Amino acid sequence: MPVKRIKLPVAVLLVVGGLIIVGLSVRIRHVNPAISGDIAAPPKIEAILKRACYDCHSNETHWPWYSYAAPLSWWMERDVELGRQELNFSEWSSYYPATQIRKLQWIDRTLHEENMPPWIYRMLHSQAALNQSDLMLLQQWIESRLAARQSQKGSNATKENSQ
Ligand code: HEC
Repeated sequence: MPVKRIKLPVAVLLVVGGLIIVGLSVRIRHVNPAISGDIAAPPKIEAILKRACYDCHSNETHWPWYSYAAPLSWWMERDVELGRQELNFSEWSSYYPATQIRKLQWIDRTLHEENMPPWIYRMLHSQAALNQSDLMLLQQWIESRLAARQSQKGSNATKENSQ
């Protein structure tokens, strides 16, 4: 059959089908780097963070099946890369104290604005949604960590003054 007789919808189908096959055959290896210093939150808090945040903000990502099919895989890979760059609970203890405070404040803000985890992820992972009691627990935990930092700073200052 001469090429020009192939109809447009057929050509579109062939191209889309071809892309899907190529996408699935791309060899994808996701990397979870070693955990160098986990945040070590109390168990209840850790459970919430692991359920709702760790897929993108730790080195303990559970890669779902769709993360192995291009082009979804690239999108997921990018999210995890950006997420880890902004905030990585697996490398928490390597952050400077001031950075930890800043990141805690960021977390507090995203919780207030309810924009984390991203809505599209919440749609795919219903277990990641945060209810009111999760939010309260997280906010109390953040407040107590910030308060502990403040009092540490305070006691350092008095030590310096008395010397
Ligand atoms: C599906 C992946 C994903 C999940 C799950 C996720 N995040 Fe994020 N997060 C991202 C990405 C990507 C960024 C960086 C880009 C941006 O800001 O949108 C980010 C950025 C952030 C930032 C820093 C930037 C800002 O917006 O202030 C904080 C704080 C944050 N996330 C907190 C959380 C918390 C807390 C959870 C769990 C309750 C969570 N995220 C769950 C993907 C995710």
